[in-house]
Amino acid sequence: MIEVRNLGFKYFNSRKILSNISFSINSGEFVLIIGPSASGKTTLAYCISGIIPHIIDGEIEGEVFFKGIKISELDFSEISRDIGVVLQNPEAQIFGMTVEEDIAFGLENLGFKEDIIERKIDYWLKMFDLVKYKNYNPRFLSGGQKQKLVIASVLAMEPNVLILDEPFINLDQRGKYTLLKIILDFKNKGKSIVLIDKKVTGIIKFVDKVIVLSNDGRLLSVLESEKFLSSRERFEKLGIFPPRNSLYKTIII
Ligand SMILES: Nc1ncnc2c1ncn2[C@@H]1O[C@H](COP(=O)(O)OP(=O)(O)O)[C@@H](O)[C@H]1O
Ligand SMILES: [Mg+2]
Repeated sequence: MIEVRNLGFKYFNSRKILSNISFSINSGEFVLIIGPSASGKTTLAYCISGIIPHIIDGEIEGEVFFKGIKISELDFSEISRDIGVVLQNPEAQIFGMTVEEDIAFGLENLGFKEDIIERKIDYWLKMFDLVKYKNYNPRFLSGGQKQKLVIASVLAMEPNVLILDEPFINLDQRGKYTLLKIILDFKNKGKSIVLIDKKVTGIIKFVDKVIVLSNDGRLLSVLESEKFLSSRERFEKLGIFPPRNSLYKTIII
């Protein structure tokens, strides 16, 4: 689905952010990208979603391919049809004057019929406990509600690849469960997920591949594993300590 080959990146006014990164994301794969703050995770998310180079520019080395085509050569609107991105800061992604309008916005752009748009809005608002905020101005929602609204707006567009940049941070426990369930349903449909996080949590047991970035934006490791249950030592060698108790209930800590 997505192939990253010897990718390097530098914003025009920055140090080198990413160096020599290679990995692939297959259909139906759940990929976790972890690394400390400022290791370039968000920048990498921009690169695999086409935001770099289509919206944000810089000096790029190597290539990112989407379905075998260089992402730089595709139309951004075409990429966005397939790849849904939930950015780290939900505020940057809220455009509607009301919650309802915010979800409708992307759907209208995709040309969905009005009755289908309405049905989708109701479905996703219910999914995320936002029904009573339907006519609210999103500015007045809490951080967690904004996060849920952005995720709902992206999922309503039915992307084939979902990229989530630290999506759990603003969510309460209930929101975390909902999102986890949605991620797993999404994966069960054969779609690909890229989850970005600072560290490994209990969610690891659902993941197919872990990509570990060093603090200076190099690829420390790509761990492709059955379910990582036997690779605790490999993580610990990288200074990463997965939670010992991986019960479903303590998935996100
Ligand atoms: N638009 C930008 N221009 C210049 N430097 C940037 C820009 N965006 C991010 N950076 C720098 O790139 C580095 C990596 O940032 P980021 O990709 O956000 O890492 P992470 O998501 O892992 O915290 C940071 O040092 C950050 O300051
Ligand atoms: Mg980030």
